[in-house]
Amino acid sequence: MTDHRERGVDAGQWTSGGIERDLVLTDADFARIRELIYLRAGIVLAEHKREMVYSRLAKRLRHYGITRFTDYLTRLERQPDAKEWEAFTNALTTNLTAFFREAHHFPLLAEHIKQQQTPVTIWCSAASTGEEPYSIAMTLLETLGPKAAQAKVIATDIDTDALSKARAGIYPLEQVRKLDEVRVKRFFQKGTGGHAGLARIRPEVSSLVEFLPLNLLAPQWPVKGPFDAVFCRNIMIYFDKDTQAKILKRFAPLMKPDALLFAGHSENFSYISDAFKLRGQTVYTLAKR
Ligand SMILES: C[S@@+](CC[C@H](N)C(=O)[O-])C[C@H]1O[C@@H](n2cnc3c(N)ncnc32)[C@H](O)[C@@H]1O
Repeated sequence: MTDHRERGVDAGQWTSGGIERDLVLTDADFARIRELIYLRAGIVLAEHKREMVYSRLAKRLRHYGITRFTDYLTRLERQPDAKEWEAFTNALTTNLTAFFREAHHFPLLAEHIKQQQTPVTIWCSAASTGEEPYSIAMTLLETLGPKAAQAKVIATDIDTDALSKARAGIYPLEQVRKLDEVRVKRFFQKGTGGHAGLARIRPEVSSLVEFLPLNLLAPQWPVKGPFDAVFCRNIMIYFDKDTQAKILKRFAPLMKPDALLFAGHSENFSYISDAFKLRGQTVYTLAKR
């Protein structure tokens, strides 16, 4: 692809592949971005993500009135503690999620928590915009009834913008309508007036969930087990095998002996770690209890 050829800063706008561009992203800039996000978040950005990278980071360059990615990146690299790293990372994450995504996991979770004695604690480790931890909280309420008030869902993500949306707990009604009607009535409030077309998670559900920023690559995790279940779904696919293995190794001591580890639909942990064994479709338990 030659759509990111460097052109003079003063060359004005240029078009390629039907997209009008006014900022300069060279091959070297793209390689540098891939390296930086890998080191920061473990994310392996595929070669075909150039368009995505351009459009998402272009907003950051425009915010600063910078026209060349190289200048933005140099500024970033010169300040390892700059707040901009957060915006850079947030821009490059993929937050695709849904309520009760991979629906077969939730009856399994319900069965599992029925058998637990003490207050249940669950960690949702890539919580994105909240649909997943709220689905877990709804399952807790459906399964435990009033006792769910003692349960806790710790929901973490590296993306602080996604976490803000998650904390707000407001979703387009269209998205919520895909859920079972009983759940919609029980767990959501429909917006009226200026909020028409939106639905808000009821406090009964949101009070069970605590949202925290957490980078799975960070040397310290601000969460404390032992957990009855850990959800790590549709995030490992963005990491290389070595990173996946390191993370799985760190999950194990945070889990109760019979705890469940939930993976995403295209993720297989059996090949990566001998700490876990397959218990059901993309669900694992500790190999040594
Ligand atoms: C595709 S979403 C999956 C959301 C949800 N688990 C699901 O399956 O529907 C991946 C999430 O992982 C988060 N993420 C990416 N890198 C991360 C890291 N190093 N540590 C923690 N979360 C990360 C992203 O911000 C994003 O919200």
